[in-house]
Amino acid sequence: MTDELIGAALAAREQAYAPYSRFQVGAALRCEGVVYQGCNVENAAYPQGNCAEAGAIAAMVLGGGRHIDEIVIVGGGEAPCTPCGGCRQRLREFAAIDLPIRIVNPQGALLLETTLGALLPWSFGPDHLA
Ligand code: THU
Repeated sequence: MTDELIGAALAAREQAYAPYSRFQVGAALRCEGVVYQGCNVENAAYPQGNCAEAGAIAAMVLGGGRHIDEIVIVGGGEAPCTPCGGCRQRLREFAAIDLPIRIVNPQGALLLETTLGALLPWSFGPDHLA
């Protein structure tokens, strides 16, 4: 399943709209056996741009999914494209703290394998409001 997610993330990256940063990002997540993809979508009004992870999460929610089991992210270059702070929190809404997060390069090679808990320690989430 991870290989399928890598392929889906690479394909999503091809669709990125990133004319300003020229930094294309793709994300693919697995939710109960279904794969959802997202790419970054920038905007001339810079803060209105969306990250790839946000797009994948929106697709999942639209498809009726509510739980992320695994995610693969691909950016450019050899430095792992780790999710931004906002996207770490977005993931936290729909994933367990041990969510596997894999970052690959544009050729699909693994650069980093980590967890949501490692990237967002002592996080605040839905359970705090239960
Ligand atoms: N970006 C993502 O889509 N995901 C990340 O994890 C990091 C950054 C996008 C936002 C912006 O379009 C571009 O990459 C440069 O920051």
